Amino acid sequence: MGFSIHWSWLAALSCALWMGAGVRCDCPESKLEMQGGNYTLSNNLERGSMLVYHCPEGYYPYPAITRLCQANNSWRPQPKRFPAQKCRLIECPDPNVLENGSVSPPQEKYYVGNETTYECYSGYTMRGSATRVCLNNGKWSGSTPICSRDSGDHCANPGIPPGASRVGTMFEIDDTVRYTCNEDTFLVGSSERVCQESGEWSGNEPACYYKHTFDTPQEVSKAFGSSIKESLTILESTDDTQEGRKIRISKNGTLNIYIGVDISDSISEDYVNKSRDAVVKLITTISSFTVTPNYEIIFFSSELYEIVNILDILDGKVKLPDVKTKLEEFAVGDRNTGTNLNIVFKKFLEKMSLIEIRAGKNFKEHRHALIVFTDGAYNEGGSPAPTVMQIKNKVYMNQADGSRDDYLDIYIFGIGDDIFDDDLMALTAGTGGKHYFRVKDLEKLQETFDKMIDEDEVKGLCGLHQYEDTNSTYELMRKKYPWMAFVSSLADGHSKKCMGSLVTPEFVLTAAHCVHCFLPEKVSVQMGEGQHGFKKAKDVFCHPKYNVTAKMDKGIKEFYDYDVALIQLENYVDISTKVRPICIPCTVETNAALRLGNQSCQSQERLLLKSHLESLNFLTRTKDKEKRTVVKQKDVHAKLGDNRYECIKNAVGVEGITADTLRDAVTDNFICTGGLQPYRDHIACTGDSGGAVYKNFEHRTIQIALVSWGSHQVCSVQDGGIEESNSDSRDFHINLFKVVDFLKGILGRQNMDYAPLKFLEN
Ligand SMILES: *[C@@H]1O[C@H](CO)[C@@H](O)[C@H](O)[C@H]1NC(C)=O
Ligand SMILES: *[C@@H]1O[C@H](CO)[C@@H](O)[C@H](O)[C@H]1NC(C)=O
Ligand SMILES: *[C@@H]1O[C@H](CO)[C@@H](O)[C@H](O)[C@H]1NC(C)=O
Ligand SMILES: *[C@@H]1O[C@H](CO)[C@@H](O)[C@H](O)[C@H]1NC(C)=O
Ligand SMILES: *[C@@H]1O[C@H](CO)[C@@H](O)[C@H](O)[C@H]1NC(C)=O
Ligand SMILES: *[C@@H]1O[C@H](CO)[C@@H](O)[C@H](O)[C@H]1NC(C)=O
Ligand SMILES: *[C@@H]1O[C@H](CO)[C@@H](O)[C@H](O)[C@H]1NC(C)=O
Ligand SMILES: *[C@@H]1O[C@H](CO)[C@@H](O)[C@H](O)[C@H]1NC(C)=O
Ligand SMILES: *[C@@H]1O[C@H](CO)[C@@H](O)[C@H](O)[C@H]1NC(C)=O
Repeated sequence: MGFSIHWSWLAALSCALWMGAGVRCDCPESKLEMQGGNYTLSNNLERGSMLVYHCPEGYYPYPAITRLCQANNSWRPQPKRFPAQKCRLIECPDPNVLENGSVSPPQEKYYVGNETTYECYSGYTMRGSATRVCLNNGKWSGSTPICSRDSGDHCANPGIPPGASRVGTMFEIDDTVRYTCNEDTFLVGSSERVCQESGEWSGNEPACYYKHTFDTPQEVSKAFGSSIKESLTILESTDDTQEGRKIRISKNGTLNIYIGVDISDSISEDYVNKSRDAVVKLITTISSFTVTPNYEIIFFSSELYEIVNILDILDGKVKLPDVKTKLEEFAVGDRNTGTNLNIVFKKFLEKMSLIEIRAGKNFKEHRHALIVFTDGAYNEGGSPAPTVMQIKNKVYMNQADGSRDDYLDIYIFGIGDDIFDDDLMALTAGTGGKHYFRVKDLEKLQETFDKMIDEDEVKGLCGLHQYEDTNSTYELMRKKYPWMAFVSSLADGHSKKCMGSLVTPEFVLTAAHCVHCFLPEKVSVQMGEGQHGFKKAKDVFCHPKYNVTAKMDKGIKEFYDYDVALIQLENYVDISTKVRPICIPCTVETNAALRLGNQSCQSQERLLLKSHLESLNFLTRTKDKEKRTVVKQKDVHAKLGDNRYECIKNAVGVEGITADTLRDAVTDNFICTGGLQPYRDHIACTGDSGGAVYKNFEHRTIQIALVSWGSHQVCSVQDGGIEESNSDSRDFHINLFKVVDFLKGILGRQNMDYAPLKFLEN
């Protein structure tokens, strides 16, 4: 469907032109124009066409946001001369609701860019932001300022958000506070909160929204992310309570995700495309957890387009990659005019009933998350509210005490230019965080779903990292390579610098030639900036077969087989988005990360090193122009199988290696990279030694080898940096699959003072 942009100065002309071309002109074009902005029409001036007003950044259309050309050839709402249609400055809700404090400057209204400061009367202390700025999305920056006296209440004063008023001044257990919003605004969040035994208020802080108020991607990411992750992580921790979570779900537990995307023509094609892309991103992000949910995905207008049938997923007929393909292939064709929101929920209910029949008793272990993208402008099928009630009854199993509320979440993403908030907010369900979002920038929604996993909450998942690569500051690099470690070792008064990788919260893997075996006092590790990131070694274990001089008798001056060491840190590191272990071969967790189920170590190796030219990466540490530490990724190809000999033979001539002793020096434990054929690889530099040679799968990183030695010194710079290989230069990396026994012997050992890593039996 096409869009036509209207400038007020050619407005009168356009209808005449269309008439000449034989286009229908049902609704009048007079009085539609807007001061300071323009409008688009979804289908010219024909019946059913949607008019959308557009204003510059910082303004919103007023009084109408959209108009619909109705069947009787009139606009809804009708254009009026007064108040004139124009672009208004964005306002923020009234901050002068602060109790026991003052707001300056005092103003009738506050507009985008206006700054306010808050002060508490004497005897009161402030929580929240003392300065706030009115933002483009109709919200104040920072958090609600609250002036309170330490009066020993059970719950802290919950404050009053801008634009709201509160009833309730008692903050003891079971006391309730109720909020309402002032006239022009509506309340999003909990209108009622109860002081709980834990000292927390139930629900989440309410906020007063205008029609022009939107949630930023950061807000959505944080709120939606922590809420959906709750479902994902609870399902994960089936056999331990290490994170202090109550295990509510047994191994039979399943997460069913039902996604509905509104593609009715009140939503533009651009919006549809972006919601579709956001759904793809959402599914990709969720797939980085070890939980594999089942998906039902429906696009809808007045009828349904079922993209993925959840029963096919349950039967194994459709797999995750197929889901993504099906979504990506979906293109909006001719859409019918109506919107029927109810049929979507009816379909979800129907699918739940079918799952219930199959699952039998186990159905009570199923969690359900419904995620619907819509503007709520339905005109067929009636309100979905009764259907939502049926869904609740089914999942809650008639337990009115709230004990099963955790098993159902209904999230609504309000999209489009004119959102029917009241209707939509009533459809949300679930405990904990926010379930209703108003999204303006759908492009950002993809980013939002990507960022969801980089919160600190998802602990213990190896190899989890953030994708984005917008800025290459060291800080951001830590999020992309959270397992990265810099290893230093003192030798003859100077320090040798190497790379390493965090493999558990307490162990760093590196090359044996980088450290003094069994001399921890000479070894240290840097895992973040400054003193905080500095870690002393408690112990250093080298592979027992590592012996550089072992093959002197054959003329091999330096022999680097088994060049692998584990550094035990004096104190274990705190896992965060910037510090997290990488996955290593033959562990149970790596199976989970690769979604292999119960598979052997060999099948991991077959998957990770399947091609004879496997694309791998490793890191290099260097300095940028401003002399700041930066980290860069090198791209290489492991030459395996038939390609291997061509690669390793370039070691002849190095440190006494001859054609005869080549196989003695370069044992099968090495992976060879470098050279120009068939791709020009990057080559390792001094300082890259000991670093992880890895492969990424979606959001997870698996270490396959570690950088050991090279045939030629190619790098011009002193240490680190991106350098391309020449035709003779080769690098040799220790294949971790060949040293699993060593890794298992230390990391997998039971009854030590550290938590063992679970290795596969075979
Ligand atoms: C319509 O208004 C929007 C927002 O102010 C502006 O970005 C766009 O360029 C305008 N389009 C035309 C054709 O003037
Ligand atoms: C057109 O129809 C709508 C309802 O369908 C009604 O509210 C409106 O008054 C009608 N307008 C005219 C001009 O008849
Ligand atoms: C603090 O605010 C509350 C609510 O507005 C009011 O009842 C109380 O008198 C105020 N206390 C002082 C000392 O101003
Ligand atoms: C608040 O913003 C409006 C609109 O930009 C501006 O005219 C006004 O001067 C601002 N007020 C203050 C106190 O900054
Ligand atoms: C889980 O499922 C198995 C078989 O499917 C069943 O034997 C077992 O009782 C179930 N456990 C629970 C807690 O429902
Ligand atoms: C939406 O996506 C389809 C298919 O990918 C593409 O053909 C179409 O041009 C896109 N439309 C817009 C407005 O981006
Ligand atoms: C990226 O870096 C530039 C310059 O250092 C900075 O202005 C910008 O805000 C950064 N962007 C992000 C997303 O951090
Ligand atoms: C290393 O190998 C050489 C030659 O076989 C042997 O003499 C030496 O004892 C070995 N060193 C260690 C520490 O095992
Ligand atoms: C995994 O498979 C192995 C052999 O294939 C079997 O011995 C083991 O019991 C299985 N483990 C689980 C948890 O199913």
